[in-house]
Parts: sequence; C-alpha cells; structure tokens
Amino acid sequence: MSTSTLISQVNQGICEIVMNRPERKNALTAEMYSAIAEAFERAENDDAVKVVLIRGEGGNFSSGNDLTDFLQSPPTGEHDPVFRFLRRLALFPKPIIAAVEGVAVGVGMTMLFHCDLVYASHDARFQLPFTNLGLVPEAGSSYLLPKLVGHLKASELCLLGEAVDAEAALRMNLVNQVLAKDAVLEVARQKARNLADKPSFAIQQTKALLKDVSRETLLTQMKKEENLFLKLLKSEEAIAFIKGFFARKR
Ligand code: COA
Repeated sequence: MSTSTLISQVNQGICEIVMNRPERKNALTAEMYSAIAEAFERAENDDAVKVVLIRGEGGNFSSGNDLTDFLQSPPTGEHDPVFRFLRRLALFPKPIIAAVEGVAVGVGMTMLFHCDLVYASHDARFQLPFTNLGLVPEAGSSYLLPKLVGHLKASELCLLGEAVDAEAALRMNLVNQVLAKDAVLEVARQKARNLADKPSFAIQQTKALLKDVSRETLLTQMKKEENLFLKLLKSEEAIAFIKGFFARKR
C-alpha cells in the first residue's frame, strides 16, 4: 500500500513501512499517522507478516510531528491519528525493527522506544525537544526512557532537550548497533529476515513476555502524557515557541 508520504510493502514475511516526506525530513502529518496506524493494523492481521521494519526516506528517520500541523490543526483527543498510531505501536504483537539514519526527533525518537531492535547509522542524531517547545514527552517515553537509560540520562534528554549522536545513543542502550550509512538498512533487513525465518509463535510469545509485565503502567502513563500534551499544545507559550521554529531562518 502506498500514499505519497507513506509506503508499506510486504515481502517474504517482512512489512517495510517507509516515512516518505524527505523535503521535511519526514515530519509526520495527521495523514501520515493515519496511514502508519493502518499499515500496522494490516501487518498485525496479516499472518504472512512476521516482522515490521520501519525507516525514513532520503537519509533521515523523522523530524517528529509536523510543526505546521501543531499550529494549524493540532490533535484534540484520543481519536486523533497520532494517538491511534501510538497505541497501535505500543500494543503491536510482532517484532518491530527500526533503521535510523539522520535525524530522529520528537516522536521520531520516542517511537523507537517501542521497537524491539534499533540499528542506527553513524550520522544519526536523536533529540527530544518537547520542553524547548513548551510541551511534554509523549508515546510513553516518560515511562520507557528512564527504564532504558536511567533517571539521570532520561532527565538530560527530556529536560535539556539536547541532541545526542549515534555513539552516545549506543552507550545509553537506545540503539543495538551503529553502522555505516550505506550498511544500516541492509543489516536491519538481514535481522528482519532472521526473525521472519524463526517460529513465529515463539517469537511473538517472547516479545509478549518481555513487554507484558509493564503494559498496564505504560498505557496509564501514555494517557497522562496525552492529556497534558493536548492541554499544553493550546497554551500561548507552546504556540509562541513553535512559531519561533519557523521564524528562526528568516
Ligand atoms: N515540522 C515541519 N517542518 C519541519 C519539521 C517539522 N517537525 N522539521 C523540519 N522541517 C522543515 C524545515 O522547516 C525545513 O523546511 P524549509 O526547507 O522550508 O526551511 C526542512 O524541513 C528541512 O529542515 P531543516 O531545519 O532545514 O534541517 P536541519 O538539518 O537544519 O535540522 C531538525 C533538522 C530536525 C533538527 C530541525 O528541522 C528541527 O529541529 N525540526 C523541528 C523538530 C521538532 O521540533 N519536532 C517536533 C517535536 S514535538
């Protein structure tokens, strides 16, 4: 299936989902969130799909939520495409592999915390700029990130909102491996093939065992984040900071 900005293709048990808006570094619009949520839903229901591989087109993973959308048509509730996508991602039962090149910012980074394997290129750059914009972290990251990296590193990423490079992300256990830019996708695809060839029931049960214990807490925290995020998105402060992003180059 393919819209212009989101491509998903199934080949030999692997569903490859591609964010395809390179001129905006794959910033995600409401239309793209809907399309990704639907691609994940189809992948979940299709027995031929064993693994999902997600990546961005044009040398970047994603620059996060489209900031124009935040100003012109912000999400307003749990049925908005962004939250439908995030819940689908959090509850997805099959393995998800991410191949990350270039920027992985905002939700472009927090979606990685739901992935089961993450491969990054040397030029990958990760950032959670939520507080810089007068917002709070989302996608369950305020719960998942401290579990992954510990409280101090999570505070550094979430409170300071500074970018970190691929090597720093590796040291923090945010990625499995750092690779040359021309190797990252091939390695991610190879790992996807390895998983697709394994007994799928055992693979899915293993993922469930790794994730199920903390699922309720994760969903509760995602709801808290969502409420706060929606409230802050309407604040004068956040609107001014988001407008500031577009004013910076003038
Ligand atoms: N929403 C909308 N447009 C975006 C965008 C976003 N999240 N991220 C980048 N763009 C646009 C830029 O405005 C620019 O457009 P232009 O060519 O018309 O000026 C184009 O994409 C390329 O981005 P640019 O900023 O020139 O690339 P860069 O390499 O200098 O910086 C980022 C890349 C991702 C660090 C920077 O674009 C950025 O900080 N983006 C905002 C990230 C963000 O805050 N996301 C939401 C978090 S909640």
